[in-house]
Amino acid sequence: MRAILSDIHANLEALTAVLADIERQGIRSVYNLGDTLGYGPDPIACLDHTIRLDLTLLGNHDQAVLVHPDGFCQSAENCILWHRAILERTEGPLPTGPHGKFLASLPRSHRENGVRYVHGSPRSPLYEYVFPEDIDNPRKLERIGSMFETLCFCGHTHVPGLFVHVADERWEYVYAEECEKGFDVTGRKVLCNVGSVGQPRDDDERACYATFDGRRIRFHRVEYDFETTIKKVYAIPEIANFLGDRLREGR
Ligand SMILES: [Fe+2]
Repeated sequence: MRAILSDIHANLEALTAVLADIERQGIRSVYNLGDTLGYGPDPIACLDHTIRLDLTLLGNHDQAVLVHPDGFCQSAENCILWHRAILERTEGPLPTGPHGKFLASLPRSHRENGVRYVHGSPRSPLYEYVFPEDIDNPRKLERIGSMFETLCFCGHTHVPGLFVHVADERWEYVYAEECEKGFDVTGRKVLCNVGSVGQPRDDDERACYATFDGRRIRFHRVEYDFETTIKKVYAIPEIANFLGDRLREGR
């Protein structure tokens, strides 16, 4: 059994709640699909946790902390620059110290036993969003589907769910809530978005992640103490208050 999580976004309370939930189930293998940084108040503590995981990929926010934020809204950019400043204050110019070297070493994509892992999409691992609405764009899904074998896990949109290939140019969207007993991927091509640990955006404020036992995908929701995270956000001038407020609504 493996747990797959994404988009921690420096939210320590959400991450520790999710890791505890994973441990309670006796799951040993944990993969993180990136965006460990950006938006949240605890970049270093979250990196310290992810350094110990079995796999961490590079996300677009992680890359921006390392290089330069390009194409982000002002509030996201401000937080990225603050994360970089925090890292540089503690360990010198990136990527020299342990956290910087860890970030610079992260792969953009991983493939194992025919399963692909990316942050965004297999076509553009760092940047491309695949939203539930893309179910109305079968050409996009066909193109993306041609770039992995049968199963691909991704994050980036912060919206958990499955894109299931049913016939030529026909895909179905399966909402995470519809997979409570697990979704059997046998014999199907599936793109699975695992949702977000630290900033869910599907109107459910609980942290989200997925598990896969080689056959079935399940989504898990975990309550966490977001009021503590929000208080930390309010206390940091470089992080806009709304980035805390949205945690209450899962938006
Ligand atoms: Fe993200």
